Amino acid sequence: MIPLSIEQIARITGANLDSMPDPAVVVAGPVVIDSRQAVPGALFAALPGERADGHGFAAAAAAAGAVVMLGIRPTGTPALLVADVPAALGLLARAVVDQLPGLVIAGITGSAGKTTTKDLAAELIGSLGPTIWPQNSFNNEIGHPLTVLRVGEHTRYLVAELSARGPGHIDALCRIAPPRLGVVLCVGNAHAGEFGSLTQIAAAKAELPQALPADGVALLNADDPLVAAMAAKTAARVVKFGRSADADVRATAVRLDGLSRPSFTLQMPDGSAVVELRLHGEHNVTNALAAAALAGQLGMDADAIAAGLSSATARSKWRMEVTERPDGVVVVNDAYNASPEAVTAALAALRVMADGRRAYAVLGRMAELGERSREFHEQAGSAAARSGLAGLIAVGDEAAPMLTGAKAVTDFRGELIGVPDGTAALAALRERLRPGDVVLVKASRAAGLQTVALALAAGEVSR
Ligand SMILES: Nc1ncnc2c1ncn2[C@@H]1O[C@H](COP(=O)(O)OP(=O)(O)O)[C@@H](O)[C@H]1O
Ligand SMILES: [Mg+2]
Repeated sequence: MIPLSIEQIARITGANLDSMPDPAVVVAGPVVIDSRQAVPGALFAALPGERADGHGFAAAAAAAGAVVMLGIRPTGTPALLVADVPAALGLLARAVVDQLPGLVIAGITGSAGKTTTKDLAAELIGSLGPTIWPQNSFNNEIGHPLTVLRVGEHTRYLVAELSARGPGHIDALCRIAPPRLGVVLCVGNAHAGEFGSLTQIAAAKAELPQALPADGVALLNADDPLVAAMAAKTAARVVKFGRSADADVRATAVRLDGLSRPSFTLQMPDGSAVVELRLHGEHNVTNALAAAALAGQLGMDADAIAAGLSSATARSKWRMEVTERPDGVVVVNDAYNASPEAVTAALAALRVMADGRRAYAVLGRMAELGERSREFHEQAGSAAARSGLAGLIAVGDEAAPMLTGAKAVTDFRGELIGVPDGTAALAALRERLRPGDVVLVKASRAAGLQTVALALAAGEVSR
């Protein structure tokens, strides 16, 4: 972070000082929310955690060298007290951004593919100059300001992931670090429970192009009509990416190898070059094009972009992570996240990999789908059954609707197996897997199915 005194931080956030001997003390270290990451000069922000309240760790943070805690109540250690810690982090992040007029800020949103696109874009843009991007999915009212607070005087680019669980969220994130470039990937049913209809989801994603200035660039997916329509909602110049003929940054001659890794010809306004992705799944063509379009706007040419995309490996875990076991079983760990569209994309990749192999899908709950949850799980079951599987293993409370959906596919010849949890899913697989089989494991993070995928990937040789 840019060094700021306690006094300055208090002014920016409206905080009251407590147990603070000297307001001139400077926070020169990082802003952390985990006391174990506190180092001399750090600011420790106390948040209510899932298991423990951060205020209980203020003393540990201070012992590790943190100069001040940002919290909502006194703990006996030097503190900046506010009513709302995430809001204070947002104000602080904005003050830092305002001190760096040369910083180029790009935001990425969409219902699926944000983290992957962010990682690809950071890989490309990082070659142009010092770049900050979020770790994992630091994309909400806490993760976003923490990411912004990592920028320093020498940072040239900030590539941010912006997530919305309701109207106004993306707008608020854009106020924390106003982007000049904004990417919208797709409008799908992720978080349908909070939002309602696709129209409402599209309106929330449109907050990013709406926040862009007239000298900014809106990068929109030409293949998604709800995204392409956002061109009418932005003051910024529009650049379209996608497979459509009217896209400015396009992919032609798309092919998939046996592990569903796409290669394609990247067509940019200034030239073309061949890309061979190391990521799995055709959906990653869209993500790669979005990253390419962004890098192109920052001055990178088609050759350099193609080289960067072709060498990029997945930086964030459990997204279409493919392991080939010594016995030839292929395990696809896509257990980080699931939404109706993400399941469709993962099943498409599985179908490609299943060419000549027996394929199993282990599907668990897709979270946050609200009142249409049952319907979406039935559709996922049908889509799985239409994918020519040897077996669908449906896990947990949503197993029943998934199996119902699968049974409706009358020409499905595979096995339908419902199990209560990951342990039972593993047991079912151990009985069935043979050398050369491919297994997809997919669910929302809350279902915890990564344990199944990790155990399988590390697993003993099958019968
Ligand atoms: N462009 C896309 N279209 C559909 N599904 C996608 C796309 N990109 C990624 N996915 C699916 O969504 C999952 C999450 O990807 P991720 O990049 O973490 O997205 P996000 O950050 O938006 O949640 C992936 O594992 C994949 O199954
Ligand atoms: Mg993400």
